[in-house]
Amino acid sequence: MSRSAHPAGPRHADVWPEGHYSAPPADLNALDPKVWAQTVTRTGTGEVSVGGIGVAALAEEFGTPAYFVDETDFRARARAWRTAFGHDADVFYAGKAFLSRTIVRWLHEEGLNLDVCSGGELTTALSAGMPADRIAFHGNNKSTDEITQAIESGVGRIVLDSFQEIVRVAHIAQSLGKRQRVQIRVTVGVEAHTHEFIATAHEDQKFGIALADGQAAEAVRRALTLDGLELIGIHSHIGSQIFDMAGFEVAARRVVALLAEIRDEHGVELPEIDLGGGLGIAYTSDDDPREPHEIAKALDEIVTRECESAKLRTPRISVEPGRAIVGPTAFTLYEVGTIKPLEGLRTYVSVDGGMSDNIRTALYDAEYSVALVSRTSDAEPMLVRVVGKHCESGDIVVKDAFLPSDLAPGDLIAVPATGAYCRSMASNYNHALRPPVVAVRDGEARVIVRRETEEDLLRLDVG
Ligand code: LLP
Repeated sequence: MSRSAHPAGPRHADVWPEGHYSAPPADLNALDPKVWAQTVTRTGTGEVSVGGIGVAALAEEFGTPAYFVDETDFRARARAWRTAFGHDADVFYAGKAFLSRTIVRWLHEEGLNLDVCSGGELTTALSAGMPADRIAFHGNNKSTDEITQAIESGVGRIVLDSFQEIVRVAHIAQSLGKRQRVQIRVTVGVEAHTHEFIATAHEDQKFGIALADGQAAEAVRRALTLDGLELIGIHSHIGSQIFDMAGFEVAARRVVALLAEIRDEHGVELPEIDLGGGLGIAYTSDDDPREPHEIAKALDEIVTRECESAKLRTPRISVEPGRAIVGPTAFTLYEVGTIKPLEGLRTYVSVDGGMSDNIRTALYDAEYSVALVSRTSDAEPMLVRVVGKHCESGDIVVKDAFLPSDLAPGDLIAVPATGAYCRSMASNYNHALRPPVVAVRDGEARVIVRRETEEDLLRLDVG
């Protein structure tokens, strides 16, 4: 947005500095339902509540910073994906976005499957009762222990990511006297329109086996000859935080073309394809995500059309949304500590968390929204940068946003859409204690992942 498009701000110079932001919203107290979880609302007093509980009471009971997840919203989103894909398709929630035993139970109850990518995620899933045959095991460098654990526990599929792994998994399965169901992950050569670090289907990266140069066809050839493997399908994941369906269309077309090639060469019609996750969510009001039913319809149409023209039976489709299910269901609650107005620039608002609870801004230049939630305010908007308490200047939570100019230390502010890849990528940088995750529903709040303590830190430090 050009500088001239911004109204002159009362607390700043005539011109707003460069940044990611749009003009200040007409009403700073409004909560855009696109970015806030379903039950988040302002109560009569102006305070924000979730699941019927006000943020002041939540902060009092659980402390800040803390992630609050709206269980009603999580279940509704999980169900929406399940329903959209119906009985002829499978939805695997991508556990890397955020996983805990409670989340596993909710997923199980809502009829979803689970994608895990480490022994830790697998153990969490199994310990919370997810049936192993509803779990898919991913990863570009699974260890021998992880492969053994996955096969022994009976996971529904292992997604093979390299030539070495084809042999490794076959060998381990055979030595355990099992035949493991597997898919082969291919890179379809799509440049997904997203941040470089979260795009995964162009050729120059570490995941999967390229379709180009017949690599994927060769991988299929090898997998089909190995007794320890039952090849059930082809997998593609093109990247994350993607809004445009075009990349998925190209991926689906190329995956179906490979199925046709396999049929022609081996006389085998593989029964499944997995088109991965990666569907974008709204972090700010400028984002317009697709609804699960639109995505399901679009994918179904492409696959059906391509299969008809290749005279293939339509395979069973699966998808692996992570962010699109959990992302919008949580917000992070912070207490404002210090406020530094920098004349002609912006105001730095320091909160009691930072890059240890949300690394996404520093890592991907991600954009977030923020709101004053402990009260309303009619004060003029001020341009802020919400920063954390860590020892580096890249410790930014929200790069550019507007908060009321009467913001004061002790106010509670919240950053919405932090359900995905925030707690799961949280760190102990500066020996920060990772915040708790609290589930809220119908007037009840309960900790599902507790806050880390200094004793936890010292327990690991065995020197
Ligand atoms: N399936 C596979 C094989 C994946 O690698 C991923 C994400 C997903 C599904 C789920 O993608 P989602 O629907 O959540 O976008 N830390 C980054 C995202 C990394 C995603 C890695 N793989 C972020 O914070 O944006």
